[in-house]
Amino acid sequence: MYGAVYVLSTVTGYVLTSALLLKCPTLLHRKKKERFHSKHISHRGGAAENLENTMAAFKHAVALGTDMLELDCHLTKDEQVVVSHDPHLQRATGINAYISDMAYGELPPYLCKLDVTFQRECICEGGEDKRIPLLKDVFEAFPNTPVNIDIKVNNDTLIKKVSELVVKYDREHLTVWGNASNQIVRKCYKENPRIPVLFSFPRVLQLLCLFYTGLLPFVPLKEQFLEIPMPNIVNKLYDPNRMSKSQRLFTWLADNLLMRKALFQHLTARGIQVYIWVLNDEEDFQRAFDLGATGVMTDFPTRLKDFLDRNGLSKPQ
Ligand SMILES: *[C@@H]1O[C@H](CO)[C@@H](O)[C@H](O)[C@H]1NC(C)=O
Ligand SMILES: *[C@@H]1O[C@H](CO)[C@@H](O)[C@H](O)[C@H]1NC(C)=O
Repeated sequence: MYGAVYVLSTVTGYVLTSALLLKCPTLLHRKKKERFHSKHISHRGGAAENLENTMAAFKHAVALGTDMLELDCHLTKDEQVVVSHDPHLQRATGINAYISDMAYGELPPYLCKLDVTFQRECICEGGEDKRIPLLKDVFEAFPNTPVNIDIKVNNDTLIKKVSELVVKYDREHLTVWGNASNQIVRKCYKENPRIPVLFSFPRVLQLLCLFYTGLLPFVPLKEQFLEIPMPNIVNKLYDPNRMSKSQRLFTWLADNLLMRKALFQHLTARGIQVYIWVLNDEEDFQRAFDLGATGVMTDFPTRLKDFLDRNGLSKPQ
């Protein structure tokens, strides 16, 4: 009898404490200092409006007033940090070679037209600028624009060089870096803990386990950015008739587990920003902000800008 009462009161105490700390996390954790706050994030510079990851794309996005550039990094054979998505050059340049096997000066230009990965049947027709830029070019051109860097290869030299560039251009307060791989994120954090990191994929799974067991409010977190896809967009990217029942069920489940207002509210109260990718439609922008996401990554910077302006969500200038 007493045992049952004891267990019951302990469980009740745990549930109440967890619920209280979920709502008011600063009772236990110091709120992380946000050095910038991004609502409008241009994915690969806005891959549907300009050729992805080109200076032309970044210039367009910054001129439009984007809050952040999202880009990807690789290392060339002569150890230069370049901004490009794929390790292999075939898709984007038509050349059958790896970036890591070529010197920077040998890199081919992009093709005139590139498929937009996160928009079905969409091809981006580029302008003059087809050059694969150096990360340094981006830092020099946009000294005040926050940049989200995806470290695309697990290569210690790449991580070290990116950190050196970030330090050299005095951008530790304007950068977030990482990758879905936990090993890469750990190396980034070890290389330079002053540059904020994002949650790797295994850490996102851990985060969800902690959230659904009520443990999350008690656990310290080193990451400062949660960057996750909106699983539902898969239904737009692929023909639903060609998705199997289990694929559809998995998408539905992932969407329900991940897109949680209470989770986003808790994280943002702890000073962790929540970015959702890659959204290209108004209804998805709306859903993300309704759920309490802090920012949206898009291939259509103009579309997102119009949406923010019309809904009174733009930052005051
Ligand atoms: C990292 O990249 C450089 C340049 O491409 C290469 O020489 C080196 O072997 C790579 N290191 C590892 C551990 O893959
Ligand atoms: C993370 O890095 C791996 C290489 O280790 C790469 O294949 C992958 O595309 C990257 N993931 C993301 C989400 O960028």
